[in-house]
Amino acid sequence: MRFIGNKENLVEKIYHLLDIRKIKGKSIFDVFSGTASVSKYFKKLNYKVISADLLYFSYVLQRAYICNNINNNFSKLLKELPKSNNSLFVSPLELIINYLNTLPLIEGFIYQNYTPLGSSKLNIPRMYFSNENGKKIDTIRIQIEKWKIDDLINENEYFILLACLIETVPYYANISGVFAAFQKNWDSRALKSLNLRLIENIINKHENLCYYGNSMDLIKSLEADIFYLDPPYNERQYAPNYHILETIAKYDYPEIYGISGMRDYTNQKSNFCNKEKGFEELKYIIENGKYKTLIMSYNTEGIILKENIIELMKNNGEFELIEFDYLRFKSNSNGVNKNKKYIQEQLYILRR
Ligand SMILES: C[S@@+](CC[C@H](N)C(=O)[O-])C[C@H]1O[C@@H](n2cnc3c(N)ncnc32)[C@H](O)[C@@H]1O
Repeated sequence: MRFIGNKENLVEKIYHLLDIRKIKGKSIFDVFSGTASVSKYFKKLNYKVISADLLYFSYVLQRAYICNNINNNFSKLLKELPKSNNSLFVSPLELIINYLNTLPLIEGFIYQNYTPLGSSKLNIPRMYFSNENGKKIDTIRIQIEKWKIDDLINENEYFILLACLIETVPYYANISGVFAAFQKNWDSRALKSLNLRLIENIINKHENLCYYGNSMDLIKSLEADIFYLDPPYNERQYAPNYHILETIAKYDYPEIYGISGMRDYTNQKSNFCNKEKGFEELKYIIENGKYKTLIMSYNTEGIILKENIIELMKNNGEFELIEFDYLRFKSNSNGVNKNKKYIQEQLYILRR
């Protein structure tokens, strides 16, 4: 998924850097898990994984990829659905995805607020999704909820279907990276007909744990060999940049405002988007966390001062900083750094 700071393409390198330093463990706490890409990687290596994030759509992904640890057969639901000709050759999840892809369309909250026709009464109608794709998102989301209410799917199956939708939506959104604004002209991707995608199922031998909320509340109560920190590195809060994914995940008909149709995110603000408060929280994690090794991904554009991080870490154990070039996330709203392609990615390592 396109997500600011997604470590999908970097996690292999991070693992390699740890491996050559003989930093290993049996458990990891992915404290700021976002798309869950780091959690997924370590789950595949059979670590016991704990993940957490302030965003509910991240929790949906965590539940599907990290907590779920079985092959779900959707048996109750499949008994209710029309028999498909190719049911012998495709997985239960594929059968359900195919069914969801062909339902008659409903005009729901996403169509009414984030498509040009649905929001045509506004001075500036919103162009996040084509009219058809907006209805398709509503149709699929409403159907998943109905199956849950009717007790036709269990919790795992519910979160897997929601995760399929969350992973699919960004491919059809008329945005340039984040959901804080829509584009004034249609991107060709947004005009394609939405096709719900499958997600991978990852199974390991542990009881993995997932949390929705402020990770600071978990620091003292959870224990893992490795704490992996990948906090926001600038003033941009995540919640407003992904507000529509949050609304699709919750489907809670929120009050929305402004040109972009933003939902309230008062309770989802991260202190890491503030230099001083971010430093205080980092200090809290380092001093109170129960870990053997703490790894923090950050970069040379991060708002917390490098010398402050170094001093803090040196006071708490054996410390090392690794810096390497990495292609930055490109966004249209980067101001002065618009043309800068490379920043230094940092990996702070602290061993107790
Ligand atoms: C740089 S992103 C993490 C990216 C992630 N490693 C990935 O690969 O997708 C930072 C994440 O931290 C989350 N976050 C920020 N402050 C938080 C807090 N206090 N508690 C939990 N999550 C927080 C944000 O919602 C965001 O998803």
